[in-house]
Amino acid sequence: MEIIHLSAECYPVAKVGGLGDVVGALPKYQNRLGHFSKVVMPAYHNKFMQENEFEVVYDSWCNLGQKGYSVRILREKTNKLGFDLFLVHIPGLMDRENVYGYGDDTERFITYQIAVLDWINQWEHQPDVIHCHDHHTGLVPFMTANCERYKRLSTIPTVLTIHNAQYQGQFGWDKLDYLPAFDLWKSGLLEWRHQINPLAAAIKCAWKVTTVSPSYLDEISYQANGLESLLASERGKSAGILNGIDNEVWDTSKDPMLVKPYNIRTSDSGKKANKADLCAVFNLDPTKPLFTFIGRLVGEKGADLLPEIFHNSLAHSHGNINILVLGSGDPVVEARLEQLKNWFPGNYNVYIGYNEKLSHQIYAGADFLLMPSRVEPCGLNQMYALRYGTIPIVRRIGGLKDTVVDIGDGGFGICHDQTSVGDVGHAIGRAYGLFQDVKRIKEIRKYIMQLDHSWDRAAQQYIDLYQM
Ligand code: ADP
Ligand code: GLC
Repeated sequence: MEIIHLSAECYPVAKVGGLGDVVGALPKYQNRLGHFSKVVMPAYHNKFMQENEFEVVYDSWCNLGQKGYSVRILREKTNKLGFDLFLVHIPGLMDRENVYGYGDDTERFITYQIAVLDWINQWEHQPDVIHCHDHHTGLVPFMTANCERYKRLSTIPTVLTIHNAQYQGQFGWDKLDYLPAFDLWKSGLLEWRHQINPLAAAIKCAWKVTTVSPSYLDEISYQANGLESLLASERGKSAGILNGIDNEVWDTSKDPMLVKPYNIRTSDSGKKANKADLCAVFNLDPTKPLFTFIGRLVGEKGADLLPEIFHNSLAHSHGNINILVLGSGDPVVEARLEQLKNWFPGNYNVYIGYNEKLSHQIYAGADFLLMPSRVEPCGLNQMYALRYGTIPIVRRIGGLKDTVVDIGDGGFGICHDQTSVGDVGHAIGRAYGLFQDVKRIKEIRKYIMQLDHSWDRAAQQYIDLYQM
């Protein structure tokens, strides 16, 4: 099959979070199953663009309402990612440093989607499926099904994967003229709560809808930032497919970012060396259990509670635990996490910012990874932690529920029910107790490192879904 993935992110080209990891891996694994899976994403003004070579495969023009933009589609020349990568270069709109966060994101992503469809529309053949990821690509299923200009594409099956229903990309009806012409009586397909809502439009128009874990599919029928009833009514065409991880990027025995590579057999000495290095850099004591949080500092992740949770645990443990945070997001949370450094030097540290290399080093060097998420459609951090022999402490929600089993239930992680200071504090206490049992910790570490969360299974599940 020929599969076109449309996404705003794709690792290592551009990554803000797990969406990038997924789109950077799934196509590679689909190709290994004998398919032709490609990624078509925006070209940003970033390192990947500067350091790689491209050829122009399409050179044209795209209208957005009254404005026009020149468009070039560039193909990465070497296929080194394991799939064909096409970058949609739209000077003046897309060629900026960051993926999101600009006042004209609506215009940026609509233009990108129109440019992609204009390009595919003039191919001699047709792809077998267009797979859209999140709201930035959510108008595609509507446009292929309804815009006069894309009539030729209307028989191409479309799939929407919802990575996070919290973000929907809504905008006002004043921007309706951005879209190529369609019969106006179909406008209802774009609408949700009096606005044009790209995620809702995709849920309505895509041939199939998937979520990134089975539990999240259940949860969005009652918690989806206003889309609950729509998701419940489209449940018949929906499926929950648990994300995988790229075992080649996340491989402790070959990871070039680690100070010392290790495998299951050498996990004790390997983790010890990585922890010692991390503790030296961040002024922590390597004999104490090291707890970490890696991620976006936003409410969904429970990040607003972290300062209080950490303060309580550090104060009550009398210097017997270490905590290291890597993240960025809400400035208030960032500031409070920074402040804690003054109160618990030698036991606590934080790195505010995005640092891919450091994230690998922390997964390798930490003992426990905290994920007290309020919402977690899948979560990849817990799977990276498992693969790196770090015990996850997670709230039982979404993909966390589908991937982590509590030690009390014969499993290997620590689970709690609520995103609350009390629940997380209690879980940290349980972890501290577990850490005292050196033999058990070593056994669990070896066990979790061999759990298989690779993309092989999910890549096939998506193929089965396309075939339906
Ligand atoms: P989400 O996509 O909701 O942020 P995921 O768990 O799916 O959550 O994926 C997060 C990804 O982003 C992981 O690869 C994680 O290691 C990475 N990540 C998050 N924050 C940072 C950071 N500050 N520095 C480096 N990597 C980060
Ligand atoms: C989103 C979700 C996260 C998921 C990721 C990849 O960012 O918040 O839970 O793991 O997408 O699917």
